[in-house]
Amino acid sequence: MRIVLVGPPGAGKGTQAAYLAKNLDIPHISTGDLFRANISQGTALGVEAQSYMKAGQLVPDSVTIGMAQDRMEQPDAVNGFLLDGFPRNLAQAEALDEILKEGGVQLDAVLDLEVPEDEVVKRIAGRRICRNDSSHVFHAIYNAPAVEGVCDVCGGELYQREDDSEETVRKRLEVYHTETEPIIDYYRAQGLVVTISALGKVDEVTAKAMDALKK
Ligand code: AP5
Ligand code: ZN
Repeated sequence: MRIVLVGPPGAGKGTQAAYLAKNLDIPHISTGDLFRANISQGTALGVEAQSYMKAGQLVPDSVTIGMAQDRMEQPDAVNGFLLDGFPRNLAQAEALDEILKEGGVQLDAVLDLEVPEDEVVKRIAGRRICRNDSSHVFHAIYNAPAVEGVCDVCGGELYQREDDSEETVRKRLEVYHTETEPIIDYYRAQGLVVTISALGKVDEVTAKAMDALKK
């Protein structure tokens, strides 16, 4: 299956993607995680991305599209993938269409996670991620690790993301409304969008998402 996951910052895309990718046996491709890995490795791409991310703005398409395409062309993604955080504007959605067309494949669904803004703010405020791998995601209250400050998956140190400050979150939400929401209509016109409420416990949301994807 080829799936795009969309939803505001803090909706739980990364959290759900980890379970959905496992259940569906496809790789989880998160452009945010790819950027964070480049930042921690100090690559030129990471250096370029960092200032945009810190400001809550989108990293330019010229950097993002190539990075996403490279990842989608890895051998583990030939039979499908779950895209998390890409595409994030109409130009990226059109670029993805081209990439898929070249590969002779199509998207199966766009899963839209709906969460009210006050819940998103609470989720982001308590989020803690792992130094070793930013796809290891916890929440200080809602999804606490067994030992405070320690990643359950790999034992790494947990910390708060640099772009999770109140001011940057406000900017990220604004960018989501202006740049990213229009792609939902773009995909709706293609009959691909399934919307679910992402309120409730993590496993309840996963179950709803799996149900919606089966239809
Ligand atoms: P990215 O990393 O993609 O961030 P985002 O879209 O803002 O999404 P988040 O990672 O903040 O949230 P999430 O929905 O994954 O929620 P999570 O599962 O962590 O992008 C960051 C930046 O990179 C962008 O601002 C941009 O600069 C750049 N970028 C990335 N992609 C780009 C692109 N394509 N083009 C240009 N720039 C790009 O959950 C949040 C918290 O809630 C966690 O603590 C979790 O434990 C908790 N939680 C999850 N589910 C539940 C639940 N059901 N109940 C209670 N708590 C829950
Ligand atoms: Zn970890």
